[in-house]
Amino acid sequence: MAIPYRITGGHSRRSPLPLTTARALLAAVVTGAVLSIICVLSLTDSLSYMGFQPGSLLDKRDSSRKYLYWGARVDCPGKHCASCAGLGHQESSLRCALEEALFLDRIFVMPSRMCLSSVHNTKGTLDSSNATSDQRWGTSSSAMESLYDIDLISKNVPVILDNPKSWYGIVSRSTKLGEGDVAHVQGVSRDELKDNPLYSDALLINRTASPLAWFMECKDRTRRSSVMLPYTFLPTMPARKLRDAANEMKEILGDYDAIHVRRGDLLKNRKDRFGVERSLHPHLDRDTRPEFIKKRIARWIPKGRTVFIASNERTPGFFAPLSDRYKLAYASNFSSILKPIIENNYQLFMVERLIMQGARIFVKTMKEFDNDLALCDDPKKNTKVWEEPVYT
Ligand SMILES: *[C@@H]1O[C@H](CO)[C@@H](O)[C@H](O)[C@H]1NC(C)=O
Ligand SMILES: *[C@@H]1O[C@H](CO)[C@@H](O)[C@H](O)[C@H]1NC(C)=O
Ligand SMILES: *[C@@H]1O[C@H](CO)[C@@H](O)[C@H](O)[C@H]1NC(C)=O
Repeated sequence: MAIPYRITGGHSRRSPLPLTTARALLAAVVTGAVLSIICVLSLTDSLSYMGFQPGSLLDKRDSSRKYLYWGARVDCPGKHCASCAGLGHQESSLRCALEEALFLDRIFVMPSRMCLSSVHNTKGTLDSSNATSDQRWGTSSSAMESLYDIDLISKNVPVILDNPKSWYGIVSRSTKLGEGDVAHVQGVSRDELKDNPLYSDALLINRTASPLAWFMECKDRTRRSSVMLPYTFLPTMPARKLRDAANEMKEILGDYDAIHVRRGDLLKNRKDRFGVERSLHPHLDRDTRPEFIKKRIARWIPKGRTVFIASNERTPGFFAPLSDRYKLAYASNFSSILKPIIENNYQLFMVERLIMQGARIFVKTMKEFDNDLALCDDPKKNTKVWEEPVYT
């Protein structure tokens, strides 16, 4: 089957939304009668952002609303401009911008295309070196609507796409309205954008986000109170045809478990000055081999189960040794469902991610959160230490 897979992993985490909602409800209950009307009004408003009032979608995009613009590309300008980031990083950035729109109560003007990293995507890259960067961008990017369900996102955070149909009309209208309607800002804090009338009154806030990467604007995510959208938000928002495909596959899989085995992109080794191989994840190559996977998952996944494997490993039959214990399934088993709709690896990974989310037991490559099951104990992030790979 010809659908190759690779791509970086996404994040997932339990949703903090119910907590926020619970807090809002609690606040509503304990507030006295005098304040009740105001309270109900603001509660209704915040609930509608959280998707409880799908009917208000049109109101939210009403022409009287104000807009937030972060730039034409996710993570660009940024250090990944020439070779854009994988899906996981770009989603972190997008989520960060959406959170700000939510915070400022503005419609987010979403880039109309997402850049496909050539490291993470082999389809659709122009290899002729004389292609202009615009030509390269055109073929190595994917329309946002082909990745995400924009209407579904809008039920939570109102967005319009940065394209001629929806956005350019508003821009031309705002230029007719005059200078004061557009606030060009850089390095202004979220709170000031909200509180200072200089910005809060502007029809459009044109923000230049961190030149490092959009997600740098959300560095304080460790402070839980500042997290407005859960890590699971974008992974649950794929375009309808991708969600339909995932549902069809889940139906066929029935009761299943899943493992995500990241190899290719993370197995980068380099030689030190003595010619010794070094790796950032010294146990990863070993721990993602079938014999080690089998030993590791035995305590979580009983013999005889159906196991869906999502992996960027390209060697045919690489995971076959697991088949004496498990009934294995891959995206390639579903080519009749996927081939007609998958145009790039970001879409494929989004479908696989939905399958992984639907598994009874899910084992990740490396632990991200405390309760994760993982194949490898090496830390996932912020390892700057190159160590000798271990194979025993
Ligand atoms: C690149 O240059 C070659 C020869 O100059 C030309 O035939 C080809 O069409 C060019 N490719 C693109 C994408 O412009
Ligand atoms: C936003 O600002 C940037 C640079 O400050 C400018 O190039 C761009 O045209 C502006 N966009 C809009 C929609 O005002
Ligand atoms: C998936 O395909 C492999 C061969 O590539 C086969 O061994 C396996 O049984 C198939 N799994 C299912 C669930 O059909």
